[in-house]
Amino acid sequence: MTVLSNRLKAIASFVPQGSAAVDVGTDHAILPIWLAEAGICSRVIATDINTEPLQRAYSNVRASAMSEKIELRLGQGLACVGEEEINVIIVAGMGSDNIGDIILESGWCFSEKRLILQPMTKHPELIGRLWQNGFFVRDEKLAKDAGKIYRILQVEKGISPEPSPADLYAGEALLTNHDPLLREYLHKTVERLERALSGIRHSRGYEEKSALLFQRAIEGLGMMIRLS
Ligand SMILES: C[S@@+](CC[C@H](N)C(=O)[O-])C[C@H]1O[C@@H](n2cnc3c(N)ncnc32)[C@H](O)[C@@H]1O
Repeated sequence: MTVLSNRLKAIASFVPQGSAAVDVGTDHAILPIWLAEAGICSRVIATDINTEPLQRAYSNVRASAMSEKIELRLGQGLACVGEEEINVIIVAGMGSDNIGDIILESGWCFSEKRLILQPMTKHPELIGRLWQNGFFVRDEKLAKDAGKIYRILQVEKGISPEPSPADLYAGEALLTNHDPLLREYLHKTVERLERALSGIRHSRGYEEKSALLFQRAIEGLGMMIRLS
């Protein structure tokens, strides 16, 4: 059985039993192979925009016994996938802008889909952008590999209140789920925001709006630290 990193394990934990999933930007295809081996997905589509990673995926899939359950496709974002083929969309290990573009440029309706997103950077921007387009974070989880903490988002289409500045950095689900990495993550995030806030305050083109946003996020996250 394929062994997953903590990050990929956390992503896999959001995939419901019996789903038909697409892993966009699969690279090594480790996640689709594991989802098929674990019997969570009877079929997984694994896509990549580049041929080299797709060849890597092909070698790994062939070496597993899962070739019949995993379909590899070359293509940009969701362009090589039919909306009716899948109900779970995984986009992991990419920048927020790229992930946002993949979702929003697809033209899909997403009402019956579960999105599992793991941006490497700029979670707040992605969450805000998705919220402006009618998506919300239903659940989230943290995972740590080699000292780095990753934030994994389960996103759905639907109306929800505007996320607070603190929600953009750490959603309430992390608190209600008693995420074991929450305190460490919050402390690191607050430290980072305090540095950024100090940078803004000392910069020539002082931006009051950004400073206020950071200040509110720090206050909200501080409250979460006290509650966690
Ligand atoms: C860093 S790897 C992440 C691999 C895997 N998803 C993971 O989380 O371990 C990013 C992969 O996404 C692919 N990629 C980047 N932009 C893409 C896009 N717009 N559509 C499909 N694949 C993309 C890259 O070619 C690369 O193989």
